[in-house]
Amino acid sequence: MTRVFVVDPDAPEPEPIAFAADTLRAGRLVAFPTETVYGLGANALDGAAIQRIYVAKERPASDPVIVHIHTLMQLEMLVTNIPALAHELAARFWPGPLTLVLPRAKNVPEAVSIHTQTVAVRMPSHPIALALLRAADLPVAAPSANRFSRPSATTAAHVLEDLGGRVDVVLDGGAATMGLESTIVDLTGSQPTVLRPGGVLLESLRAIDPTFMLRSRFLDVDDASQAPGQLIKHYSPRAVLRLFSGDSADVLDAIRKELTAQLASGQQVGLLMPDEECNLYSDLNIRIVNIGSCNNLEEIGHNLFARIRQLDAMGVNVIVTHTFPRDGLGAAIYDRLVRAAEGRIIHV
Ligand code: TXA
Ligand code: MG
Repeated sequence: MTRVFVVDPDAPEPEPIAFAADTLRAGRLVAFPTETVYGLGANALDGAAIQRIYVAKERPASDPVIVHIHTLMQLEMLVTNIPALAHELAARFWPGPLTLVLPRAKNVPEAVSIHTQTVAVRMPSHPIALALLRAADLPVAAPSANRFSRPSATTAAHVLEDLGGRVDVVLDGGAATMGLESTIVDLTGSQPTVLRPGGVLLESLRAIDPTFMLRSRFLDVDDASQAPGQLIKHYSPRAVLRLFSGDSADVLDAIRKELTAQLASGQQVGLLMPDEECNLYSDLNIRIVNIGSCNNLEEIGHNLFARIRQLDAMGVNVIVTHTFPRDGLGAAIYDRLVRAAEGRIIHV
């Protein structure tokens, strides 16, 4: 059974937080909002509790999880070495949407990050997440609170849609602030590397250390469609996502042809478009969902997963959309869109 508590994100009530903290201490699962997306939390020092996360998500145990902390003292318990750059990044970006990969200490169960000697750690800034971490006073392992390969959950309703009955407590603090997951930085190699773009921008990281590399699966590959079969299914809607990229006028044209062709073959078609472009297609018998203003990448990032889920819920079997500029937060948006499309980009 899942118990849901509505919690004020600006001033979290102590009772539900205490109940959720007890639940974590008992080795059970708590879903909670963070400033990025909702997390599915378990005591990071309890291997059996971590196993419950993998079972609930139907996620392979080979995919490591991020450990959430509320104080730097906890970081010292989790890792064997904190390089100067980690101190600098933590001072600048924690609490916030940055995850640091560091060498794992022995007292951290292997279940957190099987097959690697590293552990990913993050101090979230969301008041409910921080209140829970403080009350439990445990490091909390928490992947995004969605079923494996589904879009990340950005509201409590999404969590219940995917994990209802599989998680003991859900703290409902409204929509997650940013809507995109944290930036993951690996500090265990010879050069600091961004493994996943997110809310802390590459530009801001390079301002601190100009040697930061970006090893994203998609951002440095211009044509991921060359190897679509090799890309893991991630953030995927139930519908097939048709992702167009190219000059604006050409893309809008190609999208109209695509919509017409899909309709002619009897598909239920959904369109995910910026506000400014939604009415270009209102003559067609399709479901149109707006994603935010073209000029506002924060808004698009905030809405992305939620709007993909909305189209899925409408029962469409094809979703047509296009890419956005890739600088700043656009890097994270591009990464999530390409993954949702399972690596297939239609260049026009
Ligand atoms: O914003 C976020 O990071 C959210 C919230 C809940 O904090 N969490 C999140 O977790 O996105 P998850 O499990 O959905 O994604 C974590 C990613 C995975 O792709 C995993 O492979 C990677 O982090 N990861 C975790 N531990 C790692 C490690 N030791 N080395 C490299 N990558 C790691
Ligand atoms: Mg995830």
